[in-house]
Amino acid sequence: MSTLAIKGGTPVINRPLGKAWPIWGDLERQYLSEVLESGIWWRGGYPEDDLANCKVACFEQAFAEYQDARFGVAVTNGTTALECALKALGIRSGDEVIVPAATFVASATAVLLVNAIPIIVDIDPATYQLSPAAVEAAITSRTVGILPVHYGGYPCDMDALNAIAEQHGLFVLEDCAHAHGTIYQGRKLGARGNMGTFSLQMGKTMTSGEGGIILTNDEDLAAKAFSFHHIGRMPGRPFYEFHIVASNLRMTEWQGAVALAQLSRLDEQANVRDANARHLEDGLRDIPGVAPIERVPGLDRWNFYFYHWRFLKDEWPAGVTRDKFMAACGAEGLGLHLGHLHPIYQNPLFVDRNFGPVAYPPGQEPPDYSKVWCPEAERILAEEGVAMSHAVFLGEPDEIDLMLDVVRKVREHADDLIDL
Ligand SMILES: Cc1ncc(COP(=O)(O)O)c(C=O)c1O
Repeated sequence: MSTLAIKGGTPVINRPLGKAWPIWGDLERQYLSEVLESGIWWRGGYPEDDLANCKVACFEQAFAEYQDARFGVAVTNGTTALECALKALGIRSGDEVIVPAATFVASATAVLLVNAIPIIVDIDPATYQLSPAAVEAAITSRTVGILPVHYGGYPCDMDALNAIAEQHGLFVLEDCAHAHGTIYQGRKLGARGNMGTFSLQMGKTMTSGEGGIILTNDEDLAAKAFSFHHIGRMPGRPFYEFHIVASNLRMTEWQGAVALAQLSRLDEQANVRDANARHLEDGLRDIPGVAPIERVPGLDRWNFYFYHWRFLKDEWPAGVTRDKFMAACGAEGLGLHLGHLHPIYQNPLFVDRNFGPVAYPPGQEPPDYSKVWCPEAERILAEEGVAMSHAVFLGEPDEIDLMLDVVRKVREHADDLIDL
């Protein structure tokens, strides 16, 4: 029997898997060149009633339609998209917004940046998504909204979260930074609650280097988001008339050009990722000691930023940990990481209460985050979760077979990991 690579044997995989990211071509070149030669490099250069050649406006419309939403407002990045949406939703100083423990920190810092308070709650161990039960338990008289993150592109339980929101009069703002193109219950994400936001930062499954977009089905919220991203201008009002205190979060035409071209690639790439992920899931089910995250009914296409699966500690010999397993897989050429599984409240920002210029009404300060404890998020980080990046799934199905060969080999040599 061959030796584990971590013990000096030959690795199963000796080439990079998937595709190098980002992927671009002639369409990006064409659109960028059109922007260059137009001489109009910003969205504000186009009158609001004549946007046919404005790349940002074309992207807003095309992406909103693609995600099954009515309105889109493109902005500088996914963090400012959240801030802008929160402002449009009417957030006030001291308001509480419920966010999950497993996400990128921006889901919560965006809440702090508008003087509101993120209340960080646990995830559902079956899906790694915001737990509706934990949300219900965290609601207080100061709660104004729920911020579900479709973590890793897997859909949150939107029916349950929307029902809770309706019962308590809360808004739902979906953070879809990982979920472009995921299809759940026959529709895409981003307008399943009141508003949704996306990041187009370079690692994401469609990118303009940096960038973001806000979606909604609500015309009034769309107009507010437009105003908050455009220094307080109002659609249909004179250009030098300002209605609210607001920043400049406009996406440039360069970003609009690249985002529009990238959108044309998204569907095909999402199909390849999803098919390869299903292949991996089938294989993982047959190997003792590991398991996929099973798909909820209605998850028709999972387009993920990080793809998570599980190491089942109790099915391995004593002394074999998830971290040893990851190291052994890495040596075989299968790179595994932890995605954004570190519970966000463990960051110094929260533990040390480094809230910077953010000010709260007396008696309405954020909780002592050093006391927050989300047992499932902590357990999954410590011993169970593993993640892989989306571009690794853009190759041929035989690459998935190689991934499974690695996991099988490490499993067959489980005893060799005990003394690692
Ligand atoms: C879940 C989540 N929300 C928000 C963001 C922020 O997006 P951006 O980096 O574009 O500001 C990210 C970025 O990784 C993210 O992963």
